[in-house]
Amino acid sequence: MMDCLEGIYTRRSIRNFTDEPVKEEDVKAIMQAAISAPSPHNEQPWDFLIITEKLLIEKLASTLKEEYVKSGKADVKKAERTYEIISSAQVILIGLLNIKKLRKEDELEKIMGIQSLAAVAENILIAANCIGLGAHWRAVPLARPDIFKKMFVLPDYVEPQWMILLGHKASAPKPKSVIKEGIFHFNKWI
Ligand SMILES: Cc1cc2nc3c(=O)[nH]c(=O)nc-3n(C[C@H](O)[C@H](O)[C@H](O)COP(=O)(O)O)c2cc1C
Repeated sequence: MMDCLEGIYTRRSIRNFTDEPVKEEDVKAIMQAAISAPSPHNEQPWDFLIITEKLLIEKLASTLKEEYVKSGKADVKKAERTYEIISSAQVILIGLLNIKKLRKEDELEKIMGIQSLAAVAENILIAANCIGLGAHWRAVPLARPDIFKKMFVLPDYVEPQWMILLGHKASAPKPKSVIKEGIFHFNKWI
């Protein structure tokens, strides 16, 4: 297993997966990393859908492809590429913000809940990389919650935030090595 910083530095979005299944113990290790994320008042305002059945992954990928084309947001070629990426995943994790688990139902608490789900997502990406798996964060559950709510029969107090594709890497981009100038502001803006 990689050390902590190497796992962070070498993480990239993986968009090509092999047919090799992901071991249950690896999914468990990744989900342990997921729920180790911080949250306000330690409220842990999350639930997860863990999709391991290939038929269901295929159904989700083809539904999204159809919806992309129908909505006019993507041409057939782009929708087909999206289908290829999603259907090649061996496991799909869907992060859900559970409004009932927030300390209060107000805007600030909700934003902090969403931030907590983002921390969870990054833990998942890093954990997957550390154990040699590929992962890829996609925003479609946020853009089209209707599709996910219908397919997985979600209650109205649960809001899908992201989905993360998991699998063994068929190929991977190189780690990013360049530090961009001008984004670190020590002690003051200028
Ligand atoms: C909030 C969020 C939403 C994202 N949504 C998508 C997405 O819908 N489709 C996609 O291909 N990649 C998505 N990505 C992945 C980014 O495109 C990717 O992280 C970025 O290009 C940097 O590449 P890297 O992850 O390899 O460093 C998303 C990433 C984040 C953090």
